[in-house]
Amino acid sequence: MNLLLLGRGKTGSLVAEVAAKRMHTVRTAGSKENAACSALTTEKLYDIDVVIDFTAAHFVVAHIEACVRAGKNMVVGTTGWYGEKPGELERVRRLVEDHNTGFVFAANFSVGVNLFLEVARAAAAALRHNYSGQIFERHHVHKKDAPSGTALTIQRVVREASGRNESLEITSFREGEVVGLHELVLESANDRIYLCHDAKSRRAFAEGAVLAAEWIAGKKGFYDFKDIWREL
Ligand SMILES: NC(=O)c1ccc[n+]([C@@H]2O[C@H](COP(=O)([O-])OP(=O)(O)OC[C@H]3O[C@@H](n4cnc5c(N)ncnc54)[C@H](OP(=O)(O)O)[C@@H]3O)[C@@H](O)[C@H]2O)c1
Repeated sequence: MNLLLLGRGKTGSLVAEVAAKRMHTVRTAGSKENAACSALTTEKLYDIDVVIDFTAAHFVVAHIEACVRAGKNMVVGTTGWYGEKPGELERVRRLVEDHNTGFVFAANFSVGVNLFLEVARAAAAALRHNYSGQIFERHHVHKKDAPSGTALTIQRVVREASGRNESLEITSFREGEVVGLHELVLESANDRIYLCHDAKSRRAFAEGAVLAAEWIAGKKGFYDFKDIWREL
């Protein structure tokens, strides 16, 4: 495939590496080459199969609008653009459906994390059997947000699956160069259950995003990675 990768930061550069290894042709654009979406005109995108975005929350919606209007399929890894803006995800879904393009997004493109969330969902039953729970997350000192998006997702998944209103407490640690560690600890008077996902590198995100791009090429529709990763 011909891929256009927006963002050549920590994650984008790994996506480019993984995509090239899987024999795709990759063009990249950073913030300079893509000022005011200049890399996303219909002419510039004419031979592109899928656009992958790992940029920044502030810019990604403009990228989505430009790509969808140009009729291009997209994989969006950039986070932070819909959580605090009610209705934004629905608006993008309608835009994608109206233009008949293909779109995959995820808070987390790691297959391992998605599997962990399913285990957490099953374990949430403990909260109906006199267990209390806590979430711990550790990341590198450069991470800007706390708690992490993944910790908030674990919190939501457990709350929804337990059928209870309370949210588990999240404790965040920022230390060294930790890639990303998430723990769900469930405790009763009789025992303690530990569930832990410990990311060794960012490569899992990059691999998930490239597999999603292969999957969405030539397809139409709006998809959350959590609903499709089993098909990859
Ligand atoms: N969904 C997932 O699985 C997942 C995994 C990891 C990260 N993420 C998310 O992905 C995003 C990027 O993360 P990161 O750690 O790679 O950040 P990063 O290292 O800061 O890289 C971001 C890159 O985006 C570029 N950029 C900014 N605006 C742009 C624009 N308008 N057009 C093209 N490029 C632009 C920047 O380029 P310049 O340096 O040239 O300004 C920078 O290289 C964040 O939202 C993060 O939360 C998601």
